[in-house]
Amino acid sequence: MSRILLLGGSGILGSEALNQLQVRNIDYVSPRSSDLDIRDKGSLTTFIADFKPNWIINCAAWTNVDGAEDSFDSALELNSVAVKNIAEVAKKFECPVIHISTDYVFDGDSSNPYSEAAPVNPVNRYGQSKVQGEIALLDAFAEGAYIIRTSWLYGATGKNFVKTMAKKALNTENARVVDDQKGSPTSARDLATGITQLIETQPKPGIYHYSNAGSCSWFELAQAIYKNAGADSNLVEPISSASLDLKAKRPRYSLLSKEKWNSAGISEIPDWESSLEILLPEILAEIRESEKL
Ligand SMILES: NC(=O)c1ccc[n+]([C@@H]2O[C@H](COP(=O)([O-])OP(=O)(O)OC[C@H]3O[C@@H](n4cnc5c(N)ncnc54)[C@H](OP(=O)(O)O)[C@@H]3O)[C@@H](O)[C@H]2O)c1
Repeated sequence: MSRILLLGGSGILGSEALNQLQVRNIDYVSPRSSDLDIRDKGSLTTFIADFKPNWIINCAAWTNVDGAEDSFDSALELNSVAVKNIAEVAKKFECPVIHISTDYVFDGDSSNPYSEAAPVNPVNRYGQSKVQGEIALLDAFAEGAYIIRTSWLYGATGKNFVKTMAKKALNTENARVVDDQKGSPTSARDLATGITQLIETQPKPGIYHYSNAGSCSWFELAQAIYKNAGADSNLVEPISSASLDLKAKRPRYSLLSKEKWNSAGISEIPDWESSLEILLPEILAEIRESEKL
């Protein structure tokens, strides 16, 4: 019987993971950061000693990619120091950890999907902080560590690209979207389902890649959102990354190979277009409700 400590249960991925645990009647607890700050190792130790989970799912992170350029220490504290805390306490209590990482550990110079064994080389500080987190977890507790690297996450909760574009589509607004970065969108619900199935199947610990199947540019994703929302996709204009002048550089190509996940038989990975069709109506309904549209 699983007993799960879910960290970051209020975020884009965490909220879907929380739903999955509820739907499957799994015993869990998911404290907010105000109740358990994972940067505080003492509190983490007390919490885990009391609750005695037999799995930890860590969806908590610093996720502000541009903000990490100026606040690297804060990003490192959450994405690396706190992960080291989790790893050390989990090892003490012999509790396996599922930790979420990112496609931004790669530089984007490849033209083939990145395997789990491909060398990391982040092009921004967020990516650096996530690499440090992976190293911290594997150094402290490799035998109990599952690192799932994902990309372009979206869901009904929190700030994300799909929600932003869906809002623009509903308001028949123009959108200027980069067409020179290629990756795979990931439905937070699909990944959350995959996480619960990983707990059921218990494959070998290590790094796994998970994103929806297929690939697109942000521009193509935005067009698909407009189309599915019943808006004119010609309202979306392709632009170059350089014209946005963002603080953090992004990898040009961040496709992840899912061969390892698939051959471990963990879960089926749906393609990004069908998953978008499933989740977008809920996202649109949520926007209509909150914006009284
Ligand atoms: N978003 C993406 O496109 C994307 C892409 C690739 C990988 N990832 C990775 O996927 C994972 C989930 O990302 P997400 O976008 O779902 O995250 P998110 O929506 O930004 O949520 C972050 C979560 O971290 C928690 N948190 C923040 N500070 C904390 C602290 N000091 N102690 C405990 N919890 C704290 C927050 O909890 P409170 O609300 O309670 O403060 C929140 O639940 C992360 O590891 C991220 O790096 C994300």
